[in-house]
Amino acid sequence: MTTASLSGRKVLLIVGGGIAAYKALEVVRLLRKAGAEVMSVLTAAGAEFVTPMSLAALTGRPVRQDLFMPEDETAMGHIELSRWADLVVVAPATAGLIAKAANGFADDLASTTLLATDKRVLLAPAMNVRMWLHPAVQANVERLKGFDGFHGVAVVGPDEGEMACGEFGPGRMAEPPAIMEAIAALLAGPDGRPLAGRRAVVTAGPTFEPIDPVRGLTNRSSGKQGYAIAQALADLGARVTLISGPVALSAPIGVDRVPVETAREMKAAVEAALPADIAVMSAAVADWRVDGVASGKLKKAPGGPPSLALIENPDILASVSAPGKSRPKLVIGFAAETSDLEANARAKLSRKGCDWIVGNDVSDDVFGADGNTVTLFTRDAGDESWPRQSKTEVARKLAARIADHFKA
Ligand code: C5P
Repeated sequence: MTTASLSGRKVLLIVGGGIAAYKALEVVRLLRKAGAEVMSVLTAAGAEFVTPMSLAALTGRPVRQDLFMPEDETAMGHIELSRWADLVVVAPATAGLIAKAANGFADDLASTTLLATDKRVLLAPAMNVRMWLHPAVQANVERLKGFDGFHGVAVVGPDEGEMACGEFGPGRMAEPPAIMEAIAALLAGPDGRPLAGRRAVVTAGPTFEPIDPVRGLTNRSSGKQGYAIAQALADLGARVTLISGPVALSAPIGVDRVPVETAREMKAAVEAALPADIAVMSAAVADWRVDGVASGKLKKAPGGPPSLALIENPDILASVSAPGKSRPKLVIGFAAETSDLEANARAKLSRKGCDWIVGNDVSDDVFGADGNTVTLFTRDAGDESWPRQSKTEVARKLAARIADHFKA
């Protein structure tokens, strides 16, 4: 994101009531630094966490707190306020604010502004993990995203991690730089969604190859990186089909998830999801499956353990990359390596026939972790090493690169 890109852009920031509200102050600082004009609305709950004085000082403008304030309304009425902005950002977006917006409530300045605006809205949710995962909250977010044809609600985060309440999981508000990146992306494209109209297929997680009805071969892939990529692409407007092996993750919002078990099911599901513009194959597909799966549970026998004959699974990435009518314009594979990352990733690029490889050094702490250190290898634009960052940040960065690729 270039600093100049927000010069003169107008952002209305609604600060809800949550411990993450202090991060909204940093968002204001970054927006101003990038040249944007910022007006802020502070909810009554928000004012329990940050003061109107801090917001006024950082935005350089009076803070709006009430719907019925004659002085405020004569300076800029709430309807005018909702139209003044190029983009409305809600950070932190609490469960309460999301519920109001999803259901058309207008009982304070924040909710009224959200209902009255004709601009895009970006939510940065922040709440306890159980609250975020509650079907009511998920349904409300889904509902807001579904209003897309109207003026479109985008969501950044929440991130996963330790929470102020001591619990762990998704619910932490996205970090200010990530919110800035989402703001820049929304203000960038013609309709603010650089991948709108694009279709993407993402594979994620492990595969499970049965031995008999109760046992199988699988691996340690958590699916976190692939799920984050599916979410990041959807956030930029792509229509995403996520073909997922068995993982313990909830489906990203606004993404079609197709659950599969085996490599062959995954391949069939990928083929059914084509044509697509973008394919990101991040699944850890088992290289082999058991030849002749037993129809009943294998029993311990005096003759010793059974021997398993393995046969090779189809290579989904290689088959998607093969030249042909339905080959996606951009095919991205993953290379998990414990040594010689560059040589192995480059070799994979030509062997598989894909366009980019996201290489990660898995000698580090990667499996199931929230962080990832990757290098992006491309066929014609060189390499790019990214510092260790969260899988969500890796996903957003990759999605931004994909959007740039299609813009060019
Ligand atoms: O060959 P290797 O497993 O190292 O390559 C990794 C890349 O290939 C990943 O993008 C993975 O999703 C993809 N792959 C695949 N089908 C296979 C094996 C790997 O799509 N059978």
